[in-house]
Amino acid sequence: MNSKVRTAVIPAAGLGTRFLPATKAQAKEMLTVVDRPSIQWVVEEAVAAGIDDILIITSPSKKGVEDHFDRIAELEQLLEEKGKHDQLAEVRRITDLATFHFTRQGTPLGLGHAVGMAARHVGDKPFAVLLPDELMPDGGATLRRMIDVTETTGESCISLYEVDGPDISNYGVAGYSERDGDLVTIDQLVEKPAYEDAPSNLKVTGRYIFTPDIFAKLDKTEPGRGGEIQLTDAMAMLIGDPGMRGLVIKEAGYDAGQKLDWLRANIELSLDDPELGAGVAEMITSIARTRGLT
Ligand code: UTP
Repeated sequence: MNSKVRTAVIPAAGLGTRFLPATKAQAKEMLTVVDRPSIQWVVEEAVAAGIDDILIITSPSKKGVEDHFDRIAELEQLLEEKGKHDQLAEVRRITDLATFHFTRQGTPLGLGHAVGMAARHVGDKPFAVLLPDELMPDGGATLRRMIDVTETTGESCISLYEVDGPDISNYGVAGYSERDGDLVTIDQLVEKPAYEDAPSNLKVTGRYIFTPDIFAKLDKTEPGRGGEIQLTDAMAMLIGDPGMRGLVIKEAGYDAGQKLDWLRANIELSLDDPELGAGVAEMITSIARTRGLT
């Protein structure tokens, strides 16, 4: 196996029902967070972690995602003519971030099915999967560490986050046999367990580094919950053969596919933005004061 992780697969063919009506005719991955579509945040994270090849799984209704990473000659020409050099550099930078590829998932048969569509492109190398509605704005640090784990152990590695109390039963949960600091050896994966049955308080989050073994497991995965090919079911088969690690992360990031967390992402990330931060802080303080919230 060639052990370097160079490719990231971004499954973006889901329906986005949690964000209707915004997602009725628009891809949820194209919803703006601060000044760019959420999927661009995720691509930039992957690139910062050393990835230079991106495969996005799209659906027929998501042409905007493909266009966003493509050159738009008329726009570039217009910006050039108007002397808007900073904006021109910014739109060109998006296209130059990595080599982009797109594969259509005709019918949304599940996240596992979407990842399986990457088999031919990925071949026999380990690769990353990033869910585009989960934002992890840490400059690629988490993903880089996960890549290091896979490159040194030869096993897949997924990101995990500690959840307090019964809320854990809303998520995929990983049990583990050994823990060394923030690294665990996973021995169980359970989808949405009852609180009493949860094997740990570690929920599975949206970053994965897979060895190519995942494709054989996906081939063997029968449709599960909701009639969909579930990625978790295939991942569970990786546990004993060849093995699976987990990295326990400290920051949850943002679930930008969910209305409240999308708003939080916009507020917090704009506060962190060097150009917008001061203005946004002032605006929030003024809103809170006017509404008698402080
Ligand atoms: P979700 O279930 O969170 O996404 O799938 P969804 O279906 O788009 O959204 P809701 O829950 O209805 O609001 C996790 C990821 O897997 C992708 C989605 O695009 C999302 O990024 N996915 C899911 C696919 O690419 N294909 C599928 O068949 C299912």
